Amino acid sequence: MEKKRTLVTCALPYANGPVHIGHLAGVYVPADIYVRYLRLRGEDVLFICGSDEHGVPITIKAREQGCTPQDIVDKYHGIIKDSFGRLGINFDIYSRTTSKVHEKNASDFFRKLYDDGAFITRESEQYYDPEAKTFLADRYIAGTCPRCGNPGAYGDQCEKCGSTLSPEELIDPHSRLSGATPVKKKTTHWYLPLDKYEKWLSEWILDGHKEWKTNVYGQCKSWIDGGLQPRAVSRDLDWGVPVPVEGAEGKVLYVWFDAPIGYISNTQELLPQSWEKWWKDADTSLIHFIGKDNIVFHCIVFPSMLKAHGGYILPQNVPANEFLNLEGDKISTSRGWAVWAHEYLADFPGKEDVMRYVLTANAPETKDNDFSWKDFQQRNNSELVAIFGNFVNRAVVLTHKYFGGVVPACGPLQEIDREALAALPELRASMEANLSAFRFREALKDAMGIARVGNKYISDTEPWKVAKTDLERAGTILNISLQICASLALAFEPFTPFAAERLREMLKVGVDAGTDHRSGEAETVNTFREGEAAALHTGAAPSEGLVLRWDLLGRADILPAGHAIGEAKLLFEKVEDEAIQKQLDRLEAIRKQLEAAKKAEEAARVTPQKAECSFEDFEKMDIRTATVLEAERVPKTDKLLKLTIDTGMDRRTIVSGIAEFYTPEQMLGKQICILANLAPRVIRGIESKGMILMARQNDGKMRFLTPQEVLSNGAQIG
Ligand code: MF3
Ligand code: ZN
Repeated sequence: MEKKRTLVTCALPYANGPVHIGHLAGVYVPADIYVRYLRLRGEDVLFICGSDEHGVPITIKAREQGCTPQDIVDKYHGIIKDSFGRLGINFDIYSRTTSKVHEKNASDFFRKLYDDGAFITRESEQYYDPEAKTFLADRYIAGTCPRCGNPGAYGDQCEKCGSTLSPEELIDPHSRLSGATPVKKKTTHWYLPLDKYEKWLSEWILDGHKEWKTNVYGQCKSWIDGGLQPRAVSRDLDWGVPVPVEGAEGKVLYVWFDAPIGYISNTQELLPQSWEKWWKDADTSLIHFIGKDNIVFHCIVFPSMLKAHGGYILPQNVPANEFLNLEGDKISTSRGWAVWAHEYLADFPGKEDVMRYVLTANAPETKDNDFSWKDFQQRNNSELVAIFGNFVNRAVVLTHKYFGGVVPACGPLQEIDREALAALPELRASMEANLSAFRFREALKDAMGIARVGNKYISDTEPWKVAKTDLERAGTILNISLQICASLALAFEPFTPFAAERLREMLKVGVDAGTDHRSGEAETVNTFREGEAAALHTGAAPSEGLVLRWDLLGRADILPAGHAIGEAKLLFEKVEDEAIQKQLDRLEAIRKQLEAAKKAEEAARVTPQKAECSFEDFEKMDIRTATVLEAERVPKTDKLLKLTIDTGMDRRTIVSGIAEFYTPEQMLGKQICILANLAPRVIRGIESKGMILMARQNDGKMRFLTPQEVLSNGAQIG
C-alpha cells in the first residue's frame, strides 16, 4: 500500500529578528511534534520552512542600522536557522525567499497569473517622497497619531495606542526617508480580485472544512461574510522579487504574494525532480502551521492564488494557534519583551526539551496563554524530573542492580500488573485522537499519563523490596516497568526528542523515524543541516536491531527478556531557583526600562488641540497676574492648598489642587497667573474665587505659570 503522504509547512519567519518563545509555541514546536508523530507512524512526510526575507520592515531595519537589507536577512536567517536546528525542529529544508530558486519560481507564478488574465490593474494615488524620489510604504510615513497624540506614529499603525491608521489620518505627516512632506502620486498595481473567489472559498471552507479549528473557521467566516476585496499583489519598493512585466520598473511582488510561494520554491530546491508529487498530487495532504495573524493569508489569499494558477492542491488543514504571553504581558519584539530562542539555548544548555515541553503544555491552542518562569521550573522539577525521569531511572537502575542490566523474564501477571498494562493502550488511543486533531497539549498530558502510570506502578510494587525475597516476582515487575519505559520512548519522541533519544540509548533500541526524501535526487543545495538529513530521519542505529515503531506503543512485549540495556543516564535535571531568578531579573530590568521610556514619552506627548473657540469666547476670560501672600494645606486633603493672593484688585482666597507639586513654603511670594472671573465655588467649606493657571504635562506633572519678569499684580493677560 502507498504510504500516506503529508506535506507540512511552517509560516516562514521574517528575517528581521530572532525567533522567540511565542513563535515556537504557536507554530514551530507543534508542527515538529506533528511531523515526528507521522514519521513514527511510518507515514511519508515532508517538512518545509525557510526565512521570509522581503517586505518593508526589513528595509527599515537596514536603514536604521546603516546596512543593506541583504545584511539584515543574512544575519537573522543564520540565527533563526541555528535556533531551530538546536531545538530539534528538523525541517527537511530551511531555505530563504532570497534564494535563486524562489526568485524564479515566484516570478514565474506571477507571470502565469498575469498571462492568464487573473489580475486586474488599478491606478491609485500613493504617497511619494519628492526629495528621495520614491514611493513611500505606509510604514515609511511618520506623523502624530490623531487618537493619542503620539508624535512618532506610522502611516499604518500607532505603536503607542495600537490604533490601525492610514497615512491620511496622521497629523503633520512626513517621510521617514528625507523628512519631506509626502505628496500623492499616481501609480498602477496588479490586484488579485478576491471578490471573484468568494463563492468558491465559501464552499471550499465554510461548507467543506467545518472540521477546522473553531478559531480558524471563525476568522475565515467573518472575512468571507464581510465581503472580499481585490488585493494588491505588487508594491513600489526596491526590495523584493521584481514584477516580471515590461514597464514595471521599481515595482516588486508584495511580500505576502511571494512568501507563501516560498513553500513551493523550498520544496523545489530540496527535491528538484520529485517536488511535484508533494504539491500537485491529490493524495498529498497539505497542512500549514501558522499563528493567528496569518490566517487570512493561508486560508483565503494563498489558496486563491493556487486556485488561480491551477494544478496545485489546497491545504487540508490550517491549525493556527493563538498568541503566547510572557509573564502576563504581550510578547513584543520591538519592546524587547520576549524570551529569545537563541538566548534560551545559551542560558539553558542541554535543556531544549524542557522548553519544548513547557511550551506544549501551555500551547495557546484555543486561546491566548501565558508563559512564566515559575511554571517552567515547576513543570520541569515536578513533572519531567519527578515523574518521567524518576520512573525511568528507578527501572533502569534496579535492572542493573538485580539483573545485570538484562531485561528479566516476565512471570505470571497479578492484578496490579494488568491494571498498569491496560492503561497504556487507552492512553495511546487518546494520544492518537488528540495528535490527529492538533490538540498537542492534551496529547502531551496523555504521554505524561504513561509516565504517571509507570511511576505509580513501580512505587506501589516496590521491586527493590520484593527483590530481597522473590527475585522472580521482582523480575516481572521490572520487565513490565521496562516495557513502559519503551512506550515512553515512543510517546515522548515527538515532544522531547532529545530525552527520547537518551532513553533509547538506555534501552538500547533504535527508532524508525521515516525516510530521507532526497535519495534518488540529484545533488541539492542548502538542505537543512547539510548531510545530516539521513541520520535525522532514521534515528540512531539500533545496536541489536530492536527498532521502535509507533504501533508498538503500549504493548507488553516491546523488549524481549534477555535483551541487554545500557547504563542509566539522567533524563532531566532539576532547574534551580538561581537560574529562574536570573531570568526574572532580566525581565524585571526590561520592565523598568520600558516603564521609564513610557514615562518619558508620555511627558513629551501633546494632547490634541481642542475644538476652535472664538475671540469672544476668549475675551470672556479675565486672566491676570497675582502674588501669593499666604499658603497652607487644606486639612485632611492630599491635593489642596489654600492660597491667599493679591490680585491688584483685592486680596482673595483660592483653593488649588497643587499640593502634590508644591509645598506651601514653595508657593509663598510667587507671582502667578489666575483666571480672576471664574465663578466662585465652595471647596471643603472654603470659598474659592478664581483659578490658578497651571501647565499640565501628559504624565500628570504640573507647574504654575509666572511672567518672565515680575509685573504689578492685576496686569491683564490676553
Ligand atoms: N513572515 C510572516 C510572519 O511572520 C509569515 C509568512 S508565512 C508565508 O507573519 F506563507 F507567507 F510564508
Ligand atoms: Zn496613537
